[in-house]
Amino acid sequence: MAWQKVVGLKALENGGNHITAKVGENVVLFVKTQKGLEAMDGVCSHAKCILGEYDSSKNEVKCPCHNAVFNLENGHMVNPPSVAPNSPMDKLGLRKFNVRENNGFIEVEV
Ligand code: FES
Repeated sequence: MAWQKVVGLKALENGGNHITAKVGENVVLFVKTQKGLEAMDGVCSHAKCILGEYDSSKNEVKCPCHNAVFNLENGHMVNPPSVAPNSPMDKLGLRKFNVRENNGFIEVEV
């Protein structure tokens, strides 16, 4: 695991406080929350759609394809895909990544 510089913080602000970026083999969703930066898998565990709808009031991310919802704090799926309501949500959680700000840039540990 090593820290990798991703994008400037300005890009995150310009993206509405969330942005998805490819980091090595990973697609990572970065979100600026009231508590600070968060980083989580940016690809849905159901059918691999790119995530990106962030609800700051619930700290959740919704998949645009079939509406699965993930908790940004721990990566757990909190609502299953609408087309697969009996999905094993505990197995469909997403990975979290360590993330930090460094000299105006976002860095993630992958
Ligand atoms: S691909 Fe995300 S809910 Fe289906």
